[in-house]
Amino acid sequence: MFKVFVYDDYEGLSQKAFEVMEEVVKQGKVTLGLATGSSPVGLYKRLVEAHKNGLTFKDVQSFNLDEYVGLSKDHDQSYYHFMFEHLFKHVDFNLENVHLPKGEGSLEEVVAEYEAMLSENPQDLQLLGIGSNGHIGFNEPGTSFDSTVHVIRLKEETRQDNARFFSSIEEVPNFAITMGIKDILRAKKILLVASGKNKAMAIKEMLEGKIREEVPCTILQNHPDVIVVLDKEAASLIQHD
Ligand code: GLP
Repeated sequence: MFKVFVYDDYEGLSQKAFEVMEEVVKQGKVTLGLATGSSPVGLYKRLVEAHKNGLTFKDVQSFNLDEYVGLSKDHDQSYYHFMFEHLFKHVDFNLENVHLPKGEGSLEEVVAEYEAMLSENPQDLQLLGIGSNGHIGFNEPGTSFDSTVHVIRLKEETRQDNARFFSSIEEVPNFAITMGIKDILRAKKILLVASGKNKAMAIKEMLEGKIREEVPCTILQNHPDVIVVLDKEAASLIQHD
C-alpha cells in the first residue's frame, strides 16, 4: 500500500523523507536499507544536521542496495565512496555495522555472503530511489521478482542517466551488484524518493501500472507499507482524486 506525499520542491521532499527516517533511527537498534544517487542527498544532509543535534546511529546497522562492479571503494564514483562522503563520515555509525556489496574480488562469494546477511537482518526501513526506466536498486527491467542478490548488466539508458557523474560514458561500468527484488520487499517499511520530470513516467507506472517484471517498481504495489515522497515534477503524470 502506498502513501504518497507531493512537495513543491526538492527541499520539501527531502525534509519529509528525513522525518520518516529519523523516526526509525530514533528507535535505536534498527536495520536500514540505504540508497545512493542524487535523490537521497538532501535527506542525508538533514541526517547529518540532526546528528549534530543529538541523533545517534551507534546502534544502527545498514545495508546498501547496490554497487558498481569494478570500482574500488575509494573510486570517487563508487557507492561506498558516496555513502562515506554523504553520510558515514559525518555521523557516529559503527563502521562495522555498515554494509555494501563489494564490487571487486570474487563476485560469487560477495553475492552469497551479502544475501546471507540480508536474509538474517530484514530492514526496518528500506530507502529507494527510482531509475527513469523503473529500476529499483539496480534491478533493471526484466529482472525476476524472485531475484535475490545478483550481478546485473546495466541497461544503456541507465548508463546514460548515470554518465553525468563520470567524465565520459565509456567510464560508466557495464555491470553492478544489487539486492534483488525479494531482498527489497523483505523490508517492513519502504521509503521511495523521486524528483524531476524524468521520473514522472516511472512513478505513474509504479502507482497505476500493471504489475510486471518489465517495470520493476510496479512490484511495490504488493508491499504493505510504502511511503512515496515526490516533488511536483515527478508527480506530474499521476492521477489525483
Ligand atoms: C542508480 C541507483 C539507484 C537509484 C537511481 C536513481 O541507478 N542504482 O538505486 O535509485 O540511480 O538515481 P538518482 O537519484 O540520481 O536519479
